[in-house]
Parts: sequence; structure tokens; C-alpha cells
Amino acid sequence: MSYFYIFLLFIFIACAACERTKEKIYINIDEGKRSPCFRRFNGTHQIGCSSAPKGNVGVVHYVNSESDLNWLIDTGPHKPYSVLLNPADFNMAVVKHLLDSGKVNGIMVIQVEGHDDEFAPAISFSPDKACPNDASSMYKNSTDYGSCSKVDWNPVGESLMFQDLGIPIFVFTNYDDVKTTLIEKCYKQFNEPDATGSPRDYPLCAVELKDRMDGAVDSETCIRRTNHQMNLKPSRYCDPMGDRNVHGSLKPVMKNETRKDNSVILVVARMDSFSMFDNHYPSADNHVSGIVALLAISEAIGRIKENITKSDNTKDILFVFFQGEAFDYIGSGRMVEDMIRNQFPSSEGSQYLKQINLDHISHIIEVNQLAFRDNGKVWIHTDPISRSKLPQVDDMVESLKNIGEQLFDESEQDLPLPPASAQSFLKKKSIPTVVVTEHKKQYVNKYYNSRLDLAAEIKVSCDNKTSIDCYNEVSDQAKNLSEVADSIAKFVYKLATGNNASKDLYVDPNTVHHLLYCYLISPQCELFNQSLKSDRAKQLDSKPYPFYVGVDSQVNNYTALTYQMLVRYLGDKVENYTQSQCDKSDGMYKMEWMQGPYDMKHVNRTGFCIKALVNLSLAESYAFELENYDFKSGEFATWTESSWAIDAMNVRIFLIPSKNLEITTLVVGIVILVLSLVGGYIMNKGASKVFESSTPDSSMAPVAL
Ligand SMILES: *[C@@H]1O[C@H](CO)[C@@H](O)[C@H](O)[C@H]1NC(C)=O
Ligand SMILES: *[C@@H]1O[C@H](CO)[C@@H](O)[C@H](O)[C@H]1NC(C)=O
Ligand SMILES: *[C@@H]1O[C@H](CO)[C@@H](O)[C@H](O)[C@H]1NC(C)=O
Ligand SMILES: *[C@@H]1O[C@H](CO)[C@@H](O)[C@H](O)[C@H]1NC(C)=O
Ligand SMILES: *[C@@H]1O[C@H](CO)[C@@H](O)[C@H](O)[C@H]1NC(C)=O
Ligand SMILES: *[C@@H]1O[C@H](CO)[C@@H](O)[C@H](O)[C@H]1NC(C)=O
Ligand SMILES: *[C@@H]1O[C@H](CO)[C@@H](O)[C@H](O)[C@H]1NC(C)=O
Ligand SMILES: *[C@@H]1O[C@H](CO)[C@@H](O)[C@H](O)[C@H]1NC(C)=O
Ligand SMILES: *[C@@H]1O[C@H](CO)[C@@H](O)[C@H](O)[C@H]1NC(C)=O
Ligand SMILES: *[C@@H]1O[C@H](CO)[C@@H](O)[C@H](O)[C@H]1NC(C)=O
Ligand SMILES: *[C@@H]1O[C@H](CO)[C@@H](O)[C@H](O)[C@H]1NC(C)=O
Ligand SMILES: *[C@@H]1O[C@H](CO)[C@@H](O)[C@H](O)[C@H]1NC(C)=O
Repeated sequence: MSYFYIFLLFIFIACAACERTKEKIYINIDEGKRSPCFRRFNGTHQIGCSSAPKGNVGVVHYVNSESDLNWLIDTGPHKPYSVLLNPADFNMAVVKHLLDSGKVNGIMVIQVEGHDDEFAPAISFSPDKACPNDASSMYKNSTDYGSCSKVDWNPVGESLMFQDLGIPIFVFTNYDDVKTTLIEKCYKQFNEPDATGSPRDYPLCAVELKDRMDGAVDSETCIRRTNHQMNLKPSRYCDPMGDRNVHGSLKPVMKNETRKDNSVILVVARMDSFSMFDNHYPSADNHVSGIVALLAISEAIGRIKENITKSDNTKDILFVFFQGEAFDYIGSGRMVEDMIRNQFPSSEGSQYLKQINLDHISHIIEVNQLAFRDNGKVWIHTDPISRSKLPQVDDMVESLKNIGEQLFDESEQDLPLPPASAQSFLKKKSIPTVVVTEHKKQYVNKYYNSRLDLAAEIKVSCDNKTSIDCYNEVSDQAKNLSEVADSIAKFVYKLATGNNASKDLYVDPNTVHHLLYCYLISPQCELFNQSLKSDRAKQLDSKPYPFYVGVDSQVNNYTALTYQMLVRYLGDKVENYTQSQCDKSDGMYKMEWMQGPYDMKHVNRTGFCIKALVNLSLAESYAFELENYDFKSGEFATWTESSWAIDAMNVRIFLIPSKNLEITTLVVGIVILVLSLVGGYIMNKGASKVFESSTPDSSMAPVAL
């Protein structure tokens, strides 16, 4: 064998070995098992997390008690540290303490399902402000009610979400990663101080948390940088947040007809929430309870809608699901502005429905968080400022209390409205409004806008049931929510027609239960399957979709599904239409094909075409559409999300050696380098032997290895 082949063999072995060494040195935590906190901007600030471009490396320190925390801050000699926190310890005080110490450059938060005994969950946690959406509140200028001066709605809110934290923070969701890898193999084996509190010596176990954000400063700066680029491969620094609102009505009022003032009742809910961590938007109480209640109301009213549509003396009902409300009311703010500009539902150019403006709205009813009951009741909130001018509000409250009998009660009259989409409307015009929600005063939801607003907290879970049983057995929560929705449906009917609703109008607890299941347990449920075309039904996920508004590139899955359900509940079957006729149709009605329920033999589904006055409208802030908008004015929402590269996120664990070992390694490396240079020289001299047979006439001959 010539030198050349020996050399090749050597390289081959060396590479195989280095691959294996790399695997031994680094333990990667896979993408599905950790979620980063990321960066967002508003008109004036950046908030959230980011790491250095190549990631932050810190020595792992597990804080399992107060003394672990104090040890780190008082003693810990090996900074920077990356701190592993139990679920209950991730809060403002601890994070601030860690950051102020200057010793910490990364935080890992444990959140493993089904191990509450080992990693006890937080009793309360909300990263939102104590006064949510304060910056866009209708009471912003009010000395009596501004800045939640009467009550902090979200008393457990610590505003952690709105800090510019400047370090990477991840949640870890896999039990083995946390327990075996991080705590046992990494922390206990290498880093844990000994019984006397003396620190351990090198090698130490470290983690690299990479969470690199492209954008910086604020929305205005980053939009400007994105728009003014001269290079050939432009990059994005941030994207405006937004999506679509879903709206549906009953009466087809055409372009050439007139819409009477005070002829439309708005019944609304919001669709989104947030949390600090990507993909962790469970949103059970805030705001699936409200979405489901509003859909159930729409189903009940849809069933008897002839009583409303057949008469000219009734009011129309406009159901709206707003998106982006958790971020300064993006969706409702947009709709109000569209109405003022006479562009709702859709602009001047469209030939179908007559536009709706604020004068057409007679009442607003908003359903807010509903899954818990403060004092066993559901609470009616009103706006004290407009109420003094609008006698209709008293009538609304009385009527709802009558219909809801013992269940509904009124909150204190001198309290302002809690954070609600209706505020976007009331900012511009005084309209009789009630907000129906679970809390009398402060929120009873202890996990408002957080990763912990879980379905299990509102008692929607399958426990040990099979998915079929779980889907079919109506839960207590579903019964409770249907009671509430039932009363509100009757109340809305009475507002619309002036008559008491008969027994024909009722909310079906089965519907409520199925909706809770589809939104919170699995979208791959019979109700959603029935309500979609077969190809879309096949794409349904088995895990809930995020309830986060996100950036406005695509329509969110839950927005599309909510739209589809509203079409089904408010619409009419179009007899004898085939799927292709249904898909092709175009006109003032939206038509959607639904594959429908199974037939008797449970083999084929019998599909149908539904037409309805339901559509999507933009839930995007005008701030990004108006020329020269002043981003500091606070008039419109200015939220954007930082972009990040495909390889921007990474988490890996490895050992870092002591300085001595590093120097030894360096010296050994230099020796090897010198040896290989010498080797190279010898090889070079021997090259003539290697290539001597490569004469042109033998070039075709195979070479034996
Ligand atoms: C942006 O967010 C910060 C932090 O919550 C807040 O102090 C500031 O008022 C907000 N700015 C605007 C324009 O909303
Ligand atoms: C608060 O006052 C400012 C300045 O007068 C005004 O532009 C803004 O519309 C007011 N906001 C509300 C909610 O009334
Ligand atoms: C409005 O236009 C439609 C056709 O586009 C017509 O059928 C209807 O009679 C018109 N209504 C009025 C009030 O003019
Ligand atoms: C639905 O909304 C879109 C966008 O606003 C509009 O172009 C379209 O005409 C609307 N469709 C119907 C049937 O109203
Ligand atoms: C589920 O089953 C397990 C084991 O059979 C049992 O320990 C647990 O209590 C059950 N949970 C519920 C909620 O029934
Ligand atoms: C349903 O309501 C009743 C009465 O208010 C209450 O006791 C019960 O805890 C509620 N159930 C759930 C699952 O919230
Ligand atoms: C509606 O019902 C209430 C009692 O629940 C009754 O006092 C009222 O007269 C009824 N109104 C109409 C229009 O029937
Ligand atoms: C709708 O109107 C019919 C006929 O007037 C009446 O019998 C029925 O009870 C009404 N439905 C409701 C929900 O009130
Ligand atoms: C819904 O459809 C999907 C795909 O077609 C299927 O896997 C799933 O079993 C269906 N679920 C139900 C409850 O029918
Ligand atoms: C909707 O869900 C599918 C998976 O079922 C996913 O591939 C897609 O990206 C989602 N769309 C959005 C806008 O999140
Ligand atoms: C639908 O088709 C059936 C049978 O072909 C017919 O009897 C019925 O009148 C049709 N309905 C409509 C609304 O065209
Ligand atoms: C189901 O549909 C297929 C194709 O449309 C048809 O051949 C079959 O006979 C149907 N089965 C039943 C039980 O109706």
C-alpha cells in the first residue's frame, strides 16, 4: 500500500472519531422539547429575550431552594451561570435577583407535564401587567379611572413579558432532559457544591443557550431598516403582528339598501392570548371559554334566525371574534377604524353588503373569561362614564339579570370596564355596552396570559377516558358554560326582537362540550371533521393550535376554524349543490362545503354546502399602513415580532474543562500540528511514488484499495 492510501485511511478514521467525539461532547436538546422566549417591539421599546450571536454559555446551576439561589449570588465563583428553575420559581423577583447579580446569562425553566409532585407548579403566575392593555385603555386620560386606579384587574401580573430581559430564557418540557440529563448527569455529577457549600472544580457542566434575534430597538426602527435596504438580498428584521377577525351577521342588507341607525347588535369575544414562550399558548380560560360561549350563542340564535331575518322591525346581530386583542387591541382597533372610514365589512369597491359604521351599532355585548365563577356567579360590567348618559345600559343590566336569574349579577357600578375589546368602540363613541365575565372585581384567573392557563385548570381534560368517551361525555365545565351562554343568547334575542325568547332558543351543552374538546384537547375531533372539506379535515392536528396572534403572513388555524364554525352555525344549507358548485360560487354569501356526519352505516359522510353572511376582516394595525404615522403617539397598536434565522435557536449541554486542561490541550494540539507538518513533508516527498502509475494509458484501469 502506498503512502497515499494510508493517508486517506488516516483521514477517514480521524473523521469518524471526531464525529463520535462531537456526539459525546455535546448533548443537544431537540426543538420539540424546549421553547424560547423571543423578542417583540412596540413603538418605543423592545421586550423579551435574545442571546449573543453564537449563543450564551453558562455553567449549569439548579436552584431547588432559596439557599441554592443565595449560594449562586453570594459564592458561585464560575460565572457566567445558566440557571435551571423549578416552575414555581420563575417569577419577577427571582429573575430580577438573578439579573442584578450580574452572574447569570441564561435561564432554563422546567415545565414537564404530569410531574407536578416533583416539580410543583406555580400557585399563580401572569407575565402580563397588573393593568393589561393599559396603554390602549379607553381610560388612559381619565383621572378617575386611568391606570387601573380603582382596581388592578390582574393582581398577580408582574409584567415580566414586557421587560427587555437581554438574556435567553427557555422552557424545557421533556422529563428525561430535565431530570436525567440536566439535573443528574450534568448538575449533580459535576457542578453541585459539596455539603459544606464549597464549589466544585473543573471540569464543569455548561449549557449553551442560543436564541439569536435579528431585530433591535423598536418597531419604527426595525420597520425602517427592513424597508430601506440597498443590498441585493434584503433581510427582514421584524414583522407586524396581526391576523384576521371573524365576523358574521344574519340580515343581508345590500349596497343599494339603507341600514338604519341603531340597527345592529354587536356580540363579541376575543380569540387570542399570549405567553412568554413560543408555542405555549394554552389559553383555556382566557380565551377559549369566551370563544366557545360565543360560538354556542351563535348556534342557538342561528337555529331560530328566521324570527329575526323575516321582520323589518328587528335588529341585526353581528357576531365578531377579534384577533390580536392581547396586544393593545389590534383586531378591534382595526375594525373600529374601518367602520369610521366606511370600510367595514370590506371596502367601497365590493358590491355586496352595506357598510356598517358606529352609528349603526345599538348595543355591544362582550363575553370575556367565563370558566370560573367568582362567588358562584357571572358578573356584568359596565362603563361608568357612558352609563350616566345612556339609560339603555340600566335596562340591559336588568334584563340580563332577569333572564339569568340567580346566575348573573352586577359588579360595582363605579368600577371601570375591565380590559375588553368593547373599549376600542367606546373610545370613539358612547354605545350601550355590557361585558359579561367570571370576575366580580379582580381576575379570578391566576394564570392570565401565561403558559399555565391550561385546560386542566378549567377542568377540561380527558384523564383516563378514551378519546371517544371524552368527546361524548358532557363535562361539568361544558354544562356550566352552556348555562351562561343560554342566558346571553336569550338576552341578545330579546334585544334584537323586543320579545321574550321561547323554549326554541337554547344552548346545547353537547355543542359546548364538543367545542371545548376541539379547541383545548384535539382539533382532530368529529365536530371539526364534519365542518370541513375532507382534504382540510385530513390536515387537522391532534394537538391544539397556538392561540397567539403571530405575524400576519397566514390566517391562523384557529381563526380559520372559528370562521368555519360560524359559517356552519349561522348559515343555511344550499339544497342540491355539489361540492364543485359550492366551491365555485361567488356572491354576497360565503359558501363552504362541509363533509358532514357519517351515514347510518358509519361508512360514508354526507356532505353539504352552507351559505352564510360570514367573512374574515383584517386584524392589522393602521400604524403600518399610514404614511408618516407617529409610532410614539399610542393611537394604534404598534406591535411587531423580531425575525430570526433558521438556525437561530439551539440548546446543547457539554463539559467545559479547567484553564490548565485547556492549555494542555493547546500544547498537545500544537505538537500534533508540528508532527503532521513533518508528516505532510514526508508524504509530499513520496507523492511521486503514489502518482507514478497514473500515466494516460492506464487512467481507465480501476484502482485497487
Ligand atoms: C411599549 O411598551 C413599553 C413596555 O411595556 C411601554 O412602557 C410603552 O409605553 C409602550 N409604548 C407604546 C407606544 O405603546
Ligand atoms: C387622550 O388624550 C390625547 C391627547 O389629548 C388624545 O389624542 C387621545 O385620543 C386621548 N385618548 C383617549 C382614549 O381618550
Ligand atoms: C338592490 O339590488 C338588487 C340587485 O342587485 C335588487 O334585486 C334589489 O331589488 C335592489 N333593492 C333596492 C331597494 O333597490
Ligand atoms: C370577504 O372579505 C373580502 C376581504 O375583505 C372581500 O374581498 C370579499 O368580497 C368578502 N366576501 C364576501 C362574500 O362578502
Ligand atoms: C388514572 O389512572 C391512574 C392509574 O390507573 C390513577 O392512578 C389515576 O388516579 C387516574 N386518574 C384519574 C383522574 O382518574
Ligand atoms: C360549575 O358551577 C358550579 C356552581 O357554580 C360550581 O360549583 C362548579 O365548580 C362548576 N364546575 C366547574 C367545572 O367549573
Ligand atoms: C317577558 O317575560 C317577563 C318575565 O320573565 C315578563 O314580565 C314580560 O312581560 C315578558 N315580556 C313580553 C314581551 O312577553
Ligand atoms: C319565533 O317565532 C315563532 C312564530 O312567531 C314563535 O312560535 C317562536 O317561539 C319564536 N321563537 C323564539 C325563539 O322565540
Ligand atoms: C378526523 O379526521 C382525521 C383525518 O381524516 C382522522 O384521522 C380522525 O380520526 C377523524 N376524527 C374523528 C373523531 O372522526
Ligand atoms: C396550521 O396547522 C398546520 C398543521 O396542522 C401547520 O402546518 C400550519 O403551519 C399551521 N398554520 C399556521 C398559520 O399556523
Ligand atoms: C333537490 O333535488 C330533489 C330531487 O332531485 C328535488 O325533489 C328538490 O326539489 C330539489 N330541491 C331544490 C331546492 O332544488
Ligand atoms: C360509499 O361511497 C362510495 C363512493 O362514493 C360508494 O361506492 C359506496 O357504495 C358508498 N357506501 C355506502 C354504504 O353507501
